[in-house]
Amino acid sequence: MKEKIEEIKKLALEMAEKAKDSKELENLETKFLGRKGELTQILRSLKDLAIEERRIIGPLAQKLKKEVEELVAEKMKEFQASSFKLQSKIDITKPGKKIHGGHIHPLNKIEKEIRDIFLSMNFSVVEGPEVETDYYNFDALNIPKDHPARDAWDTFWLKQSVGGLFARPDSQGKSGLGLKTPDKERKLLRTHTSPMQIHYMQTHQPPFQIIVPGRTFRYEATDASHETTFGQVEGLMVGEDVSLANFKFIIEKFLTRLFGEGVEFDFRPNYYPFVEPGVDVYMKWQNKELEVAGAGMVHPEVFRAVGYDPYKTQGFAFGFGLNRLAMIKYKIPDIRLFNSGDLRFIKQF
Ligand code: DAH
Repeated sequence: MKEKIEEIKKLALEMAEKAKDSKELENLETKFLGRKGELTQILRSLKDLAIEERRIIGPLAQKLKKEVEELVAEKMKEFQASSFKLQSKIDITKPGKKIHGGHIHPLNKIEKEIRDIFLSMNFSVVEGPEVETDYYNFDALNIPKDHPARDAWDTFWLKQSVGGLFARPDSQGKSGLGLKTPDKERKLLRTHTSPMQIHYMQTHQPPFQIIVPGRTFRYEATDASHETTFGQVEGLMVGEDVSLANFKFIIEKFLTRLFGEGVEFDFRPNYYPFVEPGVDVYMKWQNKELEVAGAGMVHPEVFRAVGYDPYKTQGFAFGFGLNRLAMIKYKIPDIRLFNSGDLRFIKQF
C-alpha cells in the first residue's frame, strides 16, 4: 500500500510537470482525485485496513491528496497567468475603432429646421415637381412669353423630342435645335419654387399658409454665390386680408428663430412680375450684402390665373435661397461647396 502511494506520488508529479494546459491538469485531477480516482480509492479502502496499517497509510494518503491538490492549483494558476499574458498582447484598454456614420448635408439640415419653424407657425409643407412647364414656371406667374423679366431666370429647357437636356439661352422660344413645341407645354427644370404657388392655388381655396422646399435650377455661370442647382423655400399665405405687415411679422419671426435674437436683415424694394409691391430680403455674408429672398404681395394677375377673385383675396409670397441661408448660418464661404461631393466639407455637419 505504501509503495502504491509512492508510485501515485511519482506519477502525479511527473504528469503535473508535463501538463501542457489546464485540460491536462484536469485529467490528472480526475485520474487521482476524481470519484473513481486512484488516490480516492485508497482513501476509501482505509476503513478495511487493520488499525496499525491504517495509522501509517492514512496520514500518508491524506498528505498526498493535499499535495496533489496544491500542485494542481498552483499549476492551474500558472496556466491562467500565461494565458492572460497571451491575451494582453491585445490591448484591451485601447479605444475601439470608430465606425464612421454618415453626415446630414447642410442643406437637409437647414431645411429640416426651416420646416419645423414654419410648422410651428401653422404653415403646411408641400412639395412639387422639379420638371415644370413653361406655363407654371412663367405664364401663370404673370411672366408671359415675351416679357423681358424672363431673362432673370436663365432656363434649362428640356428637349421635347429626345428627352435629353439642353440649354436655350434666349427667351424667344427658339431652341438651339430649331424645335418648336406648343409654348405653354414646353418642359423645363423649374427655375424657382414659385410654380408651386399655382399648383397649390389651383387645388385649394384660401385661407391657407404653406411653404414649399425644393431644388431649383438655373442655366447660369457659377461663382461663390451662384450655382446651377440650388435649394429654395417658397412661402405663400393667402386669405381675405393678409397684409404686408403680416408678411414682415412672419419673416421677422422666421429669421429670429433660424439665426437667433438680434439677427440683422432688411427689406428693399424689387420688381417681380408675380408680386406688387415686390421686395427683397438682404442679410450680411462675409461683409457683403447678400440677397436671401424675393417676396411681395401676390399680384392680382396671379390670383386671376388660378381663378381667385383678386378683389376678395390678398396674400404674400416669398422665396428664400436655401443655400444662402445655410451659408450665413454655417459660415460657408462658397456656394459651390454644397454640390462638390467633397467629404471634408460634408463631414463638418
Ligand atoms: N421666385 C423668385 C426667384 O427665384 C423669388 C421670389 C420673389 C419668390 C417674389 C416669391 C416672390 O414668392 O413673391 O427669384
